[in-house]
Amino acid sequence: MITKKPANNWQQIQDALLDQHQLQLWLFQPGQSSAALSGNKALKLKYHIAQALHCKKAGLLTFGGAFSNHLAATAIACQQQGIASIGLVRTDRLDTHNPTLQHCQASGMQLVPISRAEYRMRNESDWLKQLQQHYPDFLIVPEGGSSKLGVQGVAELDLTKTPHGNSQYIVAATGSGGTLAGLAVGNPDTQVLGIDVVNDLSLPDKIRQWCPQASNWQLITGYTGKGYGRFDAELLQFCLEFKQRHQITLEPIYTGKAMSALYQLIAQGVFPKGSNISFFHTGGLQGLAGLRYRGLLSEADYQVLVTPG
Ligand SMILES: Cc1ncc(COP(=O)(O)O)c(C=O)c1O
Repeated sequence: MITKKPANNWQQIQDALLDQHQLQLWLFQPGQSSAALSGNKALKLKYHIAQALHCKKAGLLTFGGAFSNHLAATAIACQQQGIASIGLVRTDRLDTHNPTLQHCQASGMQLVPISRAEYRMRNESDWLKQLQQHYPDFLIVPEGGSSKLGVQGVAELDLTKTPHGNSQYIVAATGSGGTLAGLAVGNPDTQVLGIDVVNDLSLPDKIRQWCPQASNWQLITGYTGKGYGRFDAELLQFCLEFKQRHQITLEPIYTGKAMSALYQLIAQGVFPKGSNISFFHTGGLQGLAGLRYRGLLSEADYQVLVTPG
């Protein structure tokens, strides 16, 4: 079956499984000036940048792993706004061949390696106070851009109105939780299902803090597979076939895991017949180069995924 060409940023996915369950599936991909800013990234950073500019800060300081989509997005967003950026990277040493870190540096981000032990303190108030004293001119953005400001940006996204009427469900990958909270706030009449890709037991409490009034969200667990950042041959195959069938690139850490989980939920008959489902493509395609660099993705598979359909 062929997937229809995109109407604006929406693309209808056509598949026998969907027909069999009498469902419509619409994928939403926001257009962006840079690949690293695609998906949820620009939205989560929008009000952090506004706040930094308002408070006349020199720039943003944030955290991430060595292949972090959020670091890559922060670097380019700050560059575009003409402000500085600092990335605290969870690593023993900065690998100058790592494509994500190369992108960050090329976009002007100052990279600072921090140990795993120190990284674990990233949400502790005493540690954050010290960090702020060390970098008084920078607005500290939590990991993944998930905060009240991040939620405010995502909440501006209406994923309920698809080109074929309202959806009853919105599905997206969930890491640090800000996207799920923002979607719940911004789409109050729609059920928002976040597919957990990290297995973080503290996540539901964090999400509740960001959207205390919302009850239209659910964190779907059990689809993390081998754990955060890991994937098996079956999931990779799902992403490759999805690309070939629909000309849409998914990566196996976030969007591929979430879409594969959605297909499994559909196959289990979780969605009532006649439902319309929106899927938020949250970006993260910059991470594919890192997977290839680490030998987790072959050159041939990388090319299938990144070559425009
Ligand atoms: C590609 C991608 N999808 C989904 C997410 C999850 O978003 P959140 O961390 O807001 O839950 C992230 C992390 O920011 C991501 O990089």
